[in-house]
Amino acid sequence: MFTSQGPTLRELAVQAFSSVERGYDLLAPKFDQTPFRTPDRMLDAVEETLARHEGTFGAGLDVCCGTGAGLGMLRRLCRGRVTGVDLSEGMLAEAGLAHPEERVDLVRADARALPATLGDSYDLAVSFGAFGHFLPDERPAVFAGVHGALRPGGVFAFPIGAPIPPSRPAWWVLSGFDAVMRVRNAVWRPPFVMYYRTFPLSGVRTDLRAAGFTVETLPLDHFGRRPDGTPNWRLVLARRAA
Ligand SMILES: C[S@@+](CC[C@H](N)C(=O)[O-])C[C@H]1O[C@@H](n2cnc3c(N)ncnc32)[C@H](O)[C@@H]1O
Repeated sequence: MFTSQGPTLRELAVQAFSSVERGYDLLAPKFDQTPFRTPDRMLDAVEETLARHEGTFGAGLDVCCGTGAGLGMLRRLCRGRVTGVDLSEGMLAEAGLAHPEERVDLVRADARALPATLGDSYDLAVSFGAFGHFLPDERPAVFAGVHGALRPGGVFAFPIGAPIPPSRPAWWVLSGFDAVMRVRNAVWRPPFVMYYRTFPLSGVRTDLRAAGFTVETLPLDHFGRRPDGTPNWRLVLARRAA
């Protein structure tokens, strides 16, 4: 999972005992060598599905862009400007090195309080690999901010995995991780909010609708199907009313 160019165990431990912002500042130079960066396979699947279903877009926004994993696909899908927003200066600095193009703007901001300066004219917003950093009761603020940044008819798109049943070892690994993080956050300040099992489609759909979106999902067939025929991964398309 980690390469020899990636962070050492000690570096990961220091990150885990920092705040989210500081933790990512520290991890930033080696972030792309970790499994936390969204893999190209997922980015390509989302790009292909969006292109097939929606065509091209005007301006694009990547919420919690990190080192810019999603900015390349946004540049290909969007004819207009592309903006990456992230809390961590360190991650944004790496994104700037990876995307020096004129059409890419990078903005330091908290996704729970997106600044009004972003405007309200994005056609497409995406987010990858960051929802675990938001507690369920913070989702409405995140979704309201993205809704406000989109033009009427604009789309907020992100992948979401099918729930993992307790019969799978991965359920125990992820539940164990979340339990350790809850203990860590109960006894240590600042908190590092990162949970794997706090973003279920049902609750997410409810919060998106409450923020004013209509919601549909498309199967990401690149990742196959479960034995009951449902997709392993879906693309959520939340649309601001036209
Ligand atoms: C796991 S990384 C994912 C980065 C990138 N989207 C990717 O898929 O590779 C999570 C990112 O979310 C950012 N982040 C966490 N909490 C945030 C917040 N409240 N506002 C904005 N960015 C946040 C972190 O700084 C980090 O860059």
